[in-house]
Amino acid sequence: MEYILGIETSCDDTCLALINEKGNILCDFIINQHNAHKIYNGIVPEIASRMHSNNLPLLLKKLLEKYDKNKISAVCATLGPGLIGGLITGAIFAQTTANILDIPFIPVNHLEAHVLSAKLNNKNISYPYLALLISGGHCQFVAALGLGEHVVLGNTLDDAIGETFDKLGSMLNMEYPGGPKIELSASKGNNEAYKFPMPLCQSKCANFSFSGLKTHLRNLLKSQNITAEIANNICASFQKTVLNILLYKINYAIQDFEVLKRQRNLHCTKNYLAIVGGVASNQYLKKNLEKDVLAKHNYSVAYPPKELCQDNAAMIAYTGMQYLRERRKPNSPIRSKWSLEQITTMPIS
Ligand code: KG4
Ligand code: ZN
Repeated sequence: MEYILGIETSCDDTCLALINEKGNILCDFIINQHNAHKIYNGIVPEIASRMHSNNLPLLLKKLLEKYDKNKISAVCATLGPGLIGGLITGAIFAQTTANILDIPFIPVNHLEAHVLSAKLNNKNISYPYLALLISGGHCQFVAALGLGEHVVLGNTLDDAIGETFDKLGSMLNMEYPGGPKIELSASKGNNEAYKFPMPLCQSKCANFSFSGLKTHLRNLLKSQNITAEIANNICASFQKTVLNILLYKINYAIQDFEVLKRQRNLHCTKNYLAIVGGVASNQYLKKNLEKDVLAKHNYSVAYPPKELCQDNAAMIAYTGMQYLRERRKPNSPIRSKWSLEQITTMPIS
């Protein structure tokens, strides 16, 4: 059985993974850099790239101690979107490895890899399907029509959803990333304690806005002494607000997706909403979204395995494998911005 090697370095995690032709994950390494960045209260791009360049050779060495390099049939790496220094580091490393092994190098769009990640444990999902990508850098609804073929149905006009979790975390003196800590704190709080604004929820569209909610939280936190109980209540009420915003916006995204399918004469054997990206690992959101979306819209909600919601290289290898099967690959330079609607492909020679 042949293997596909994946490399992901678009942000602050150095990730390297090996999957087989069936899409089974043989190994999935992640070195996170949180400790190196935390004193700066954010990710320092140059530190991230330097750490990727130290980590990648170590991870590849570890992988090749266990797996035969001659069985690797392609090397895939994220070429964007992301922090440019990390992308360059990963891309050069991947391309060089592919050249030495004399196998194809397949560029991967990080967002497409998230969108496909739900298929890693829901093999029945087929195109076309609707995806909701909620991560640290993105918050968008995507009609996934085929490999390299997407229509963005809704996007955030300002902050991403994970970024909003992280900002609230930082206001509450939680370590980056705030998402998991807020989920924990919320589980001990009362989600009816505060009523928060739901920006853009008067407009009947699938776009998001989170900056008003963030400002409201900042003002609220400035105005009082924050005890543990208050923090838990704020986190719980915030999480419930996020859930309600998502539920409201899902109505419009599904409506738009159905219109698009009719216009293009596309049919689904089963309707899926794939919820992907780091925030998708939030169990409170997961539980409530699953229940509501199926009952209201007859769409099954599909998630990646929890550990593959966050950035990882298994999803990069998996995406590259889909292209390898079709003997084509994304045709792109390394780029910090690369929308899902801008993927073009070329044959694998
Ligand atoms: O997909 P990801 O690893 O990186 C990007 O592509 O951005 O997502 C990271 C984001 C961070 O903002 C983090 O706070 C958020 O995912 N996150 C969560 C949870 N776990 C991670 N947000 C809410 N609840 C969680 N349990
Ligand atoms: Zn990501």
